[in-house]
Amino acid sequence: MAVEIRFTKEGPIEIKGQVTLHAHDGRVVQAKPGDAVYLCRCGASMAKPFCDGAHAAIAFDGSLA
Ligand code: FES
Repeated sequence: MAVEIRFTKEGPIEIKGQVTLHAHDGRVVQAKPGDAVYLCRCGASMAKPFCDGAHAAIAFDGSLA
């Protein structure tokens, strides 16, 4: 199954499909087909590299990133 990567307009990078992500600190996230994983691109997440929703609080404008 193909993996889809989408840059959302005002938030994270959405990765859909069967993937395994390895964070720098050893955390591993495994997504099954149909799952989605979200990576922070605003810099405000306290759970980097993953999005924790903080982009909404800082009114991140993804069209500039
Ligand atoms: S993109 Fe969601 S917290 Fe950064």
